[in-house]
Amino acid sequence: MVVIHLQNIMGGIERLKKEAGVTACNFIKDGMKIGLGTGSTVRYTVIEIGRRISEDGLNVVGVPTSKATRELALEVGIPLVTLSESDGLDLVIDGADEFDNNFSLIKGGGGALTREKIVAQSSKSMIVVADDRKQVETLGDFDLPVEVLPFEWERTRDRISSICPGEVTLRGGSEPFVTDNDGYILDCRFGPSISEPKSLEMELLSIAGVVEVGLFVDICDAVVLASNGGVLTLINDSGRLN
Ligand code: A5P
Repeated sequence: MVVIHLQNIMGGIERLKKEAGVTACNFIKDGMKIGLGTGSTVRYTVIEIGRRISEDGLNVVGVPTSKATRELALEVGIPLVTLSESDGLDLVIDGADEFDNNFSLIKGGGGALTREKIVAQSSKSMIVVADDRKQVETLGDFDLPVEVLPFEWERTRDRISSICPGEVTLRGGSEPFVTDNDGYILDCRFGPSISEPKSLEMELLSIAGVVEVGLFVDICDAVVLASNGGVLTLINDSGRLN
């Protein structure tokens, strides 16, 4: 009984991810240059873009935010370019680990935060795809991912620990998770207390050895949010889609 119940819950979450991922494709228009995010929700977006290319003749090009997304995009037939070749993107669609009422995000659960931020900053707009578990009052319940250089990473961790109230953990432990940029990820337990994400982002970025911080502030324009009640598109009043 318990197993069946758990399977139903998992099946339900997967369905919500798919609904959010596919619905976000409504933002895509013919001829667009699109940033392709990383993660299990935006995966459905990438697959749907591939389907629209092969079945509906959609004409777009993509810039992937990770090696994993690159592989998937090629598999489903999305023509890829680099950011330099694209000369700027029309939009990026990506997942998030948390978002708050100001459309600030925690990202990096999959370890791709640096490339994700580079691509997001090169896009005219950013659409996040999420299920309703990701919506929070205050960011930080999800441990904040920070990409760091492997060189003397313990010193970087100690300096981060001096401003992080909870544990700062090397992802992967004795067999560290290595990012697409050959970096490490420190998962920082701030707890649901990040009410000033921009200043925390700046403070962390000032520490030598920090490559990038998984806080995305003033960059998300809309969230396509799936819940059991249906799919909602939340538009950021201060965003670029207004
Ligand atoms: C990848 O590094 C992350 O930023 C993901 O976009 C984020 O973790 C959301 O992933 P899921 O859609 O798999 O939850």
